Parts: sequence; C-alpha cells; structure tokens
Amino acid sequence: MATAAEHLRHLIHREGPISFDRFVEVALYHPDGGFFTRGRGAGRVGGDFITSPQVGSLFGALVARAYDGWWDSLEQPDPFVVVEAGAGDGRLASDVARVKPRCAGALRYLLVERSPVLRDAQRERLPLEPADEALGGFRRVWGEDDPVPATGSGPVFATIDELPAVTFDGVVFANELLDNLPFAVARWDGERWQEVLVGTDDADGGRFVELLVPAREEDDAALRARVHGIDIAPGARLPIARGIDDWFRRCGEMLRDGWCCVIDYAATTAELLTRGDGWLRTYAGHGRGLSPLEAVGEQDITADVAIESLLQAALAGGWRLIEQQSQADWLAALGIDELVEAGRRKWRDGAAAGDLEALAGRSVVSEAAALTDRAGLGAHRVFLLYKGH
Ligand SMILES: C[S@@+](CC[C@H](N)C(=O)[O-])C[C@H]1O[C@@H](n2cnc3c(N)ncnc32)[C@H](O)[C@@H]1O
Repeated sequence: MATAAEHLRHLIHREGPISFDRFVEVALYHPDGGFFTRGRGAGRVGGDFITSPQVGSLFGALVARAYDGWWDSLEQPDPFVVVEAGAGDGRLASDVARVKPRCAGALRYLLVERSPVLRDAQRERLPLEPADEALGGFRRVWGEDDPVPATGSGPVFATIDELPAVTFDGVVFANELLDNLPFAVARWDGERWQEVLVGTDDADGGRFVELLVPAREEDDAALRARVHGIDIAPGARLPIARGIDDWFRRCGEMLRDGWCCVIDYAATTAELLTRGDGWLRTYAGHGRGLSPLEAVGEQDITADVAIESLLQAALAGGWRLIEQQSQADWLAALGIDELVEAGRRKWRDGAAAGDLEALAGRSVVSEAAALTDRAGLGAHRVFLLYKGH
C-alpha cells in the first residue's frame, strides 16, 4: 500500500508539479494514507483537534432547536431531509437524536462523510439504515408522476461518502467542513498573482518543495477583484477556494428549496492579508503541526475560509445569504442562556449530594463557556443561506 506521500511523489514524477489543492486532496483523503481516511480528526481523547460537537452534548441540543426552526419555516414537511456534510464520527447527529427534536418523527438524517473509518464510528453511535431509506421510503401514487414519500417514520439515520445525487427540499448543515475542502494558494509578486505549486527536490530525498507559476487568468482576475482597494505587499498569500466552489455548486444542484447552514473559522480577505500565511495551518494531536509539506497524512491541513470566496461560491450555487453572525450570537438566539441557567440550578440544587443530574448541570455551564468563547469557538462564523422561492 502506497502512503499518501509516496502517492504524491509518483504523481509529481508522472505529471510534474501539482497545485496545492491536489496536494491537500491526497494528504487528507488518499484512500490508503490520507489523514481523514485513516480516521484521524476531531475528538477529545485520541483526536487531533476539538470542534463544537466534540465539546459535549450541548451543541447538538442547540442545533436540534435550529432544525426545528427550519422545519417550521418549511411548513413541517414529512419527510424532513437533513444532510449533515462532513459529519465526522456522528457525534452531532447522535446528540440531536438524544434530545428528540419536534421534527424527529419526520426526520431523515443523512450523514455525509468521506472517511470510511469515521463512517464506521458513526455506526457505534447511531442505528444506521441504508441511504435510500433515509431519502426514500417512497411509494407510488396513482396520478402522481413522482413517487410520494411515506410519512411519520422518522427519525431515520443513514450514512454515505458524498453528497447524494438526488434532489430534495430540506436542510444542509456543515460544521467545520469548508476549511477542510481542498484549496489552492496564490502569492502576490508585486505585479501579478502567482500560484504556488508543489514539486519534489530529488537531490534532497524527494522532499516536497514549493514552485511558483503565473496564476491562471481567471484566478488572477478573481483575486484582483477580491483585493480591490487593499494595499498588498509583495509576497502576500491568499487561499483560492476551489473545493468550496465545487461544494456549493453540488449543494445547489441537490437542494431544491431549503436552508444551508455552514459554520467555520472565516475572515475577510483584508483580515487574511494581515495574517501572512497564518491562515494556513496544520494540526495533530491537539497541537499545531509542521509545515503542510511535511508529515503528509499525519496532520490536518486547514485554511481560514475567505468570507468573500464563500459568499461568491454560494451565490454561484444558487444560494442567498440570509444571515451571518458569530457562533456565540447564533447560540444565544437559540437559547443557550436558558439552558445554562437550568444547568446552574441543577448544580446548585444537587451539588452537595453529588448526583449525576447536578454534574450534567455543571457540564452544561462549562460547555457553554467553550462554545461561546469569543476568542475561540464562539468566534466561528455562522452563515445561513436559503435557496428556493
Ligand atoms: C474538521 S472535520 C469536522 C467534523 C465534524 N463536522 C465536527 O464538527 O466535529 C471535517 C470532516 O469533513 C470530512 N470531509 C471532508 N471533505 C468532505 C466531503 N467532500 N464530503 C464529506 N465529508 C468530507 C472529513 O473527512 C472530516 O471528517
């Protein structure tokens, strides 16, 4: 079995230097040795970084309230299809199931996850049905061209490895997916944009090295539009969001009417330009990793999402931005403060006896602090998009 690094070296020898997004694609998702393919990623013990679902069950309880709100706004359809993209080990979906949202009876919940190891981990947490049951349970009705869905049989959970090739009305939700979609890297040379490619230095054991070529014309034009009016120094770098463009296009094809909610660390192009190349990071074992060209397959490679690129990709996919806010504000609107107050009361009332309810109450308080911390997860941006009539 070739490792991700060996695969990349073969690829570069065969085709010459490759774009950074292709490098990321192999490093994270190569079938044999990709970082996520091997089941690495979000999690506390044994994980590499913490995401909001991994903080505890509170995040799922609040996302369940959001699902109920979107279900109401779509006039309580049954089935109510929710696609969770980049669903990881299924922690969020199982926390949603635990609180039994009002929409549960109608809920068809499709977890989309590329990593086979993480899809197996989902099986430990959730009773998974075949994917066509989650989207289907349809029946033929005389006089109707399309099959009519059977109702009242939720919640049904299923998992697949990519966005389904069917169309439906409902919701797409993605927490910390966009920052992991392959991105290319552009560099400003003072006059025009260049693209960073990855080659190998054969004199140095095949070490991966950067090479610069003129950016494609369409990228150069898009980057110039993004930085219009901003002073940029030679050497400045920005991500080119190729994976995000493709993802929103596919989501737009899949969802006829409904909501798309994506949460991620995101910043404006002007903010990214103040970060040098600090917008491109690697993580492993709950710490910062090495250069992205090292330890291939052993570390996460991630980029702050450029807000302008996200919105442009969403617009091109047929989406309309309804709201953009911090995770702290979004969770406040979903009622996190009242859950914290209830948790505090339980802790006060039961602390002396040390009962389990009291401990759960204390946990809600500390989870809420982490989820709304404006220097951490609370600063994530929540983008709520709508497509339809
Ligand atoms: C940073 S993790 C977030 C996991 C989870 N949403 C959470 O918040 O804990 C990103 C996940 O997205 C998955 N992923 C990346 N690209 C994907 C794609 N195109 N389709 C489905 N899953 C994808 C990765 O394998 C990884 O499990």
